[in-house]
Amino acid sequence: MKIGFCGYRGMVGSVLMDRMLKEGDFKYFEPTFFSTSQAGGAGPDVGNGATVLENAKDIKALSAMDAIVSCQGGDFTKEIYPQLRQAGWKGYWIDAASTRRMEKDSIIVLDPVNMDVIKNGLKNGIKDYIGGNCTVSLMLMGIGVLFQKGLIEWMTSMTYQAASGAGAKNMRELVCQMGAVWNAAPELATNPASAILELDRKVQATIAGSDYPTANFGAPLAGSLIPWIDVPVDGGQTREEWKGFAETNKILGNDKPIPIDGLCVRIGAMRSHSQALTIKMTKDVPVDEIEGMIREYNEWVQLVPNNKEDTLKYLSPAAVSGTLKIPVGRIHKMRMGPEYVTMFTVGDQLLWGAAEPIRRMVRILLDK
Ligand code: HSE
Repeated sequence: MKIGFCGYRGMVGSVLMDRMLKEGDFKYFEPTFFSTSQAGGAGPDVGNGATVLENAKDIKALSAMDAIVSCQGGDFTKEIYPQLRQAGWKGYWIDAASTRRMEKDSIIVLDPVNMDVIKNGLKNGIKDYIGGNCTVSLMLMGIGVLFQKGLIEWMTSMTYQAASGAGAKNMRELVCQMGAVWNAAPELATNPASAILELDRKVQATIAGSDYPTANFGAPLAGSLIPWIDVPVDGGQTREEWKGFAETNKILGNDKPIPIDGLCVRIGAMRSHSQALTIKMTKDVPVDEIEGMIREYNEWVQLVPNNKEDTLKYLSPAAVSGTLKIPVGRIHKMRMGPEYVTMFTVGDQLLWGAAEPIRRMVRILLDK
């Protein structure tokens, strides 16, 4: 099989390449690397020697592929995908961008959760396989089993989303903001006898000051937060919040959609998204049974006992970033009644949130 890669050097693309090399994926197919800016230049050596970059806007060159994996972003998909299909290309389009996610003839891929939907799609000639929204994929990797067992009547997800979801520039900006906070008063910060309100005043003046670097986020993130992600949609939601409902139900292939809603908040983590879930269950299920279902769900989920020590050790972006772990913890019933349960989950936004479902879709396609 010939598989073309577009956008392999961007943030998600680089994580994808890294994972594919680690898993030895390239030995199963013939890769071609495409570039929008450096066609003719040297491509990566993924184990079979030097490669030459093809032009990512060359429909003829792209059409020679049996499958194309794009991490090039939504604008590229909008421009290139229709041209490819109009030219009669019948190959598989595997995409990390959201552009084609909600199309009728596309499937959102998250195989530990919806392998049946993917397999059905392949059998029925579906050609477009799209990675899901990071927050949705990470939530379903942790607690998808509760949906699949029909135990969720409705759910709210309040998110704590990392800078990486906004892009590479935003990650840099977050660190620059952190540096600016430190520079505000290093002596006061490190001196245990310093006047704390003076330290606070200096830090606050820096965060709210006009020199604080906010060009990308549009507001301070380090030392603050931003309760708005993406553009507004109807009903007071942002698009990120709408995706929670729309994509979850599509991934699960639900005929009758389950209400999911909540607020999406950007916080100062680098690349792991967290979320606090409130679930109204369809019946009263004991906590140990809920824990058991989550523990057994897949090999990446990590059940974290609801105590301080384990929570601090395992249930945070710091504990998860750069790994495929999906910890779920803080599970307990709520005061509202026995059907109400809350929990907290974390996952790496670039791995299970973006690159990993795409990587695994390539393997599924190859039947390896
Ligand atoms: N929209 C997500 C975020 C990242 O802003 O965190 C992409 O799934």
